[in-house]
Amino acid sequence: MVLGLDTEVSENSFSVGCDTQVIVERCCLKLVSKESLLLELPNLWLRDNCPCDDCRVTKTQEKSFILSDVTADIYPDSVNIINDSLSISWPDGHLTNFDLDDIFALAKPRHRVPSGWPLNFKPRYFDWTQFLSDDDFACAAIQSFLEVGVIVLDKAPQVSEALELLAPRLGPIREVLFDRIHNVCIDTHVYNVAHTPMALPPHNDFASYSFPPSVQALHMLHNEAEGGQSIIVDAWAIAESVRQERSDYFKSLCEFPVPFREFDEKNETYAIEPIIKCDTAGKIVSVRFSNQLMQMIDPAQEGVYSFYLAYHDLCCRITDPANRCAFRLEGGQVLLVAAHRVLHAREAFTPIGRRHLQDAYFELDNVANRLIQLQRNSEGTLA
Ligand SMILES: [Fe+2]
Ligand SMILES: [Zn+2]
Repeated sequence: MVLGLDTEVSENSFSVGCDTQVIVERCCLKLVSKESLLLELPNLWLRDNCPCDDCRVTKTQEKSFILSDVTADIYPDSVNIINDSLSISWPDGHLTNFDLDDIFALAKPRHRVPSGWPLNFKPRYFDWTQFLSDDDFACAAIQSFLEVGVIVLDKAPQVSEALELLAPRLGPIREVLFDRIHNVCIDTHVYNVAHTPMALPPHNDFASYSFPPSVQALHMLHNEAEGGQSIIVDAWAIAESVRQERSDYFKSLCEFPVPFREFDEKNETYAIEPIIKCDTAGKIVSVRFSNQLMQMIDPAQEGVYSFYLAYHDLCCRITDPANRCAFRLEGGQVLLVAAHRVLHAREAFTPIGRRHLQDAYFELDNVANRLIQLQRNSEGTLA
């Protein structure tokens, strides 16, 4: 069925099959079924996303057409739908064909959707050797990690820099200043409270970076100390509870710029960022929290008083024992956290024996990529 759009007419409609109706408006196409809107497709969207070989780099599927080659008020000469195929003829003679299923598929999430922690949550433990050698096992571990933001790898080698071995599963190490693999023990280069036996409140590392590492691996090589329980906190759940109960506090935590600094004699890292970040849909994507790295805020800054009330409330929630999951990280265990979501902490310890932890950082995008690779491998679809 073909419909020509008269340039003087702003709206036309025709039926496709028994239920679906196409309405052609001046700026968009609408697909309506049983009086409910299935799709609204702006003309610029339709032209921009043309999948034809002239508009794409065929080898890579990247777009080569650029929108500035048409005017903003572009509209179709004619529209045609046969079965699930939508064809549009443009005034310059260009023809665009869409498979409607491809358009509907855009609504599905491309990544695993994170889920909340149940009551009395404990992270799942996965065997280190199997994680590295068995693809299906690694898939299950990474899926669990992407869902809840934390897993523990068990029976890891108790040797220095074993975290390098995780790259085939987690992607390349994200290097930051100070060291590629960071040593956390009390007889090392001291640039952070972590290098003392003192308790560490929940935090994420390198809040002083504009984009802090999004995955952190904490590898306990030896733990013969007394105390020093490891603690994890789901900061997204806490931020969500602030949003539900104190929307004014939530707003302040999303908007107020907070300075963070980590430094030593040679290095200086400094970022001014809000504590909570949301995506464009309002979903929380990052909580930046480090009591130790947070700097003095200029008291002349507008909104300091309100921010501090919100920050006090957030601190109370983050340090509330009811919101923590605590366990002892033994020698040979690696705690893996999605660091923009899960804060880590440590109780004070008495160094009656060695306690040596190594940290390395990775990126969540690379971990998600590995999962897709593994799934494609297992389906035999990877080219
Ligand atoms: Fe840390
Ligand atoms: Zn095209």
